[in-house]
Amino acid sequence: MRRYLGCKTRLLAKIAEVVAAQCPRARRVIDIFAGTGVVGHLLNTPRREIVVNDFLASNAMILQAWFCAVPADRREIEEVIGALRGCETAGPNYYSENYGGRFFSEDVARRIGALRDAIDAWNLRPIVKAAAVASVLYAADAAAVTCGHFDAFRPVDDERSERRFVLRLPDIPYRANGNNLVFCRDGNELAAEIEGDLLYVDPPYNRRQYGTLYHVLENIALNTKPALAGKTRKPPLDLRPHSEYCTNRAAEAMGDLIARCRVRHLLVSYNNMSSGVGNSNALIPLGVLEAMLAGRGAVTTHRIPFPSFTARRGLLDGHQEYLLYCRVTKPPR
Ligand SMILES: C[S@@+](CC[C@H](N)C(=O)[O-])C[C@H]1O[C@@H](n2cnc3c(N)ncnc32)[C@H](O)[C@@H]1O
Repeated sequence: MRRYLGCKTRLLAKIAEVVAAQCPRARRVIDIFAGTGVVGHLLNTPRREIVVNDFLASNAMILQAWFCAVPADRREIEEVIGALRGCETAGPNYYSENYGGRFFSEDVARRIGALRDAIDAWNLRPIVKAAAVASVLYAADAAAVTCGHFDAFRPVDDERSERRFVLRLPDIPYRANGNNLVFCRDGNELAAEIEGDLLYVDPPYNRRQYGTLYHVLENIALNTKPALAGKTRKPPLDLRPHSEYCTNRAAEAMGDLIARCRVRHLLVSYNNMSSGVGNSNALIPLGVLEAMLAGRGAVTTHRIPFPSFTARRGLLDGHQEYLLYCRVTKPPR
């Protein structure tokens, strides 16, 4: 659906296979670090209740549109996105001053600012606003001159940036949505509160903070226009969501989540990626993860060979994705 670090598109077939074998009748499925939402989307059927959560506002807004819009919302969503396509762009604005000539062409950055302000000024119903913002976020992601995240940019090719900035109608599965819930919260806190059948856990694996990697999309989603600084125009650190999973406390955070969650089936994604570059090394060893899960029930580990590349080292030898399944038999802490 879009470029996103750790997106599980290439693992969906394996995830579907494990769910079908272990818990096909799971009714309430919780995707607690949902990111793009592709895993929740895979399991989203009218008979299931999908709970999706991510602490980034940009993700939560897209997820809101994707998982909560129902057929009765469709017409209004299409009308609003149609109206946005005709929205006039005036002079320079906050977005063009900060991002013009950096992540986007000057013109695309101005359009982003004009569209975001229009959406706020129109006082839309929350679900319609979420779909409209999602459309702008997708267009901005496609038009950004980056390698997929916003910690760096390449020289801007104006023509390419403008050609790729297209406001599309989000391809929402209206008929599958019914009782789904979306949260924008800390995953550990939510997992300790909410009950379900299956919890899918896909946290960050390394030190690269998502709040920093996707700061431009966060800024567009929130449209609060904080002061930005530096070459990549980031907001101050305290305004960027900070994850324990990207620190030396990653194992502690994972242990806490596994011990306190209230579900019957647990499915955890992780990997063994070690790029040799400190920030990209996975933080929790497989044996530690298996021991944590064994504290709740019997564990099966699937190892999936995963051809992947880094800019510095090219093809990474021996990269494996792990999918750990635990049938929970012991109560939460
Ligand atoms: C590996 S990505 C998930 C990718 C997702 N499964 C997909 O396929 O797109 C990890 C996600 O966890 C989110 N995240 C990190 N720490 C979090 C926390 N403490 N609470 C909630 N979300 C968090 C990040 O914003 C990121 O989207």
